[in-house]
Amino acid sequence: MFDTKPYDREFFDETNGGRYAIKYFDSMLTRETATLSRGFEVVIPFVNDDLSKETLEKLKDEGVRLIALRCAGFNNVDLKAARELGITVVRVPAYSPHAVAEAAFAMLLTLDRKLQHAYVRTREFNFSLNGLVGFDLYGKTVGVIGSGKIGRCFIDIAKGFGMRVLAYDPFPQEIENVEWPGLDGLFQESDIISLHCPLTRDTLHIIDRDSIALMKRGVVIINTSRGALIRSDDLLEGLKSKRIGGAALDVYEEESEVFFSDNSELGIDDDILARLISMPNVLVTGHQAYLTREALKNIADDTLKNIDAYLDGKPQNVVNQAS
Ligand code: NAI
Repeated sequence: MFDTKPYDREFFDETNGGRYAIKYFDSMLTRETATLSRGFEVVIPFVNDDLSKETLEKLKDEGVRLIALRCAGFNNVDLKAARELGITVVRVPAYSPHAVAEAAFAMLLTLDRKLQHAYVRTREFNFSLNGLVGFDLYGKTVGVIGSGKIGRCFIDIAKGFGMRVLAYDPFPQEIENVEWPGLDGLFQESDIISLHCPLTRDTLHIIDRDSIALMKRGVVIINTSRGALIRSDDLLEGLKSKRIGGAALDVYEEESEVFFSDNSELGIDDDILARLISMPNVLVTGHQAYLTREALKNIADDTLKNIDAYLDGKPQNVVNQAS
């Protein structure tokens, strides 16, 4: 298992109970670290591990037959190469859609009510309220891009706040009190936009200069899905020009360079990320929307069940069947 943290080990050890011999590596899976998999049949990577053709070729050389992703998204896997190399790829399609949807709302509320600033102020006994004016969510229009498992949970929460809900999905479903004005309509009418679609060729940079130009002045954008759904420099321009009123980002286009590790002593080289973090109306978290006890338990349970099923000759949650 690559890119493992103490909390991953805790939940996998508990679920595994010694059944499989799991070797935990701190390092991420890369072309270079792929050689660590020598002698293992199964590799368990995470969201930002590199599963490019070159890495997959090395894994194949080391004897790996199954890649059991311990995440839902698989945009980091070269599926064609995996198929050609005879490596099966499975994933955990849902571990807690509630965790991500609730985190998206937590970020929205924090940003809207400026809690990140209030927290710092009161720690310094500064009880001034100047600059902390927020807005009611009640009655606002929220646009949800991607109405799958997480998007649906997000929609339910939004309805609880009394918001008007717009949605866009290439496969729209009948959902009570949800309007489907088309993607441009959603951009034009939403006070808040939350991204819950996967990263694909169609959704890459779905938020860019052109879509931002359609949005209401002061729109708030929430991204708990994948960083590259947003063209970061266009987001920064939108924030600087005040067309975008705020952004809550749990994911970032180039996050694999910095996320999941402590860079507090060295700082970061990414000027766009550093600038975004410096803005008072931007909230950045390090891909933690999924991080609840329930989700970690489900990830461990389902990853091990996926491995069981593969070894029984009945692979499940397959992204890519080896040819
Ligand atoms: P899902 O597969 O249930 O739903 C995705 C929805 O997006 C589907 O309804 C699909 O039709 C729709 N979609 C596909 N192409 C689209 C497009 N071009 N425009 C709009 N919608 C489109 O997936 P789920 O479980 O809801 O997860 C959504 C995403 O959330 C994942 O792909 C992943 O990137 C992200 N995620 C982030 C986590 C975090 O910790 N920040 C944790 C788990 C998932």
